[in-house]
Amino acid sequence: MILKDKIVVITGASSGIGAATARKLAADGARLVLIARREERLQELAQELMDAYQTESMTIKLDITERESVLSAFKEITESYGRIDVLVNNAGLMPVSYMDKLKIDEWDRMIDVNLKGLLYCIAGVLPVMKNQGGGHIINISSVAGRKVWPGFAVYNATKFAVTALSEAMRMELTPSMNIKVTAIEPGAVATELTQTITDQDILESFSKRGGDMVPLAAEDIANAIYYALTQPDEVMVGEVLVMPRRQM
Ligand SMILES: NC(=O)c1ccc[n+]([C@@H]2O[C@H](COP(=O)([O-])OP(=O)(O)OC[C@H]3O[C@@H](n4cnc5c(N)ncnc54)[C@H](OP(=O)(O)O)[C@@H]3O)[C@@H](O)[C@H]2O)c1
Repeated sequence: MILKDKIVVITGASSGIGAATARKLAADGARLVLIARREERLQELAQELMDAYQTESMTIKLDITERESVLSAFKEITESYGRIDVLVNNAGLMPVSYMDKLKIDEWDRMIDVNLKGLLYCIAGVLPVMKNQGGGHIINISSVAGRKVWPGFAVYNATKFAVTALSEAMRMELTPSMNIKVTAIEPGAVATELTQTITDQDILESFSKRGGDMVPLAAEDIANAIYYALTQPDEVMVGEVLVMPRRQM
């Protein structure tokens, strides 16, 4: 159990990749702080982890776009546990649309959650990791942080930002402060992520694309996160691209 008693904070833990990561890391002995807005989902997950592994998880109902609430949540976590070993910066949304639809509220929302919210969590955890002499920040980017597609412009922009940020953070934080930084870049994963899409043309094009591509399971990404977290001390996994075998 390499992660035994490590304190791991996971944002977006109420579904998909975040919930699968919680299960994977709890199985290896990590102690979890589960963050999202849907509190009931978090409590159900915490109960499941308690039943399976006799581990108590902290749950925090939090909208990561609220800067002051994020910073006080990280204070609360630090006061409770005395340290934070890992942040899995995972919360995000993907209401993709064509630019000429001018879905400006959705553009704002993606920038607020995928980029600014992720940064607020970094601001919450960084002083803690610096003081304790190390830690590991996992930023969930995407294959959309490396490749662009029509309809994905703003989502692409947020995920390109997360990939760039992660590499610059690695250079600033890893050699001198022992804070590792990993960008995880999933291809298509079967989760609730597409449920926020409101552009009917995008939804129609999604329903037609299909082909024989089998999307990844959230557990496949949890495995990649586990891999990055469990390497020897001197090994820094900077970037992991995980694709469905048949996705271009
Ligand atoms: N699924 C894919 O194909 C795929 C591919 C590449 C990258 N990703 C990335 O993977 C990450 C996780 O997505 P997923 O696929 O697991 O989708 P998901 O099941 O929809 O999970 C998204 C999570 O983010 C949380 N969240 C959204 N807005 C939030 C906010 N304002 N404050 C706090 N939490 C918030 C949601 O919780 P609440 O609604 O309870 O707040 C939920 O737990 C995202 O960053 C996504 O961009 C996904």
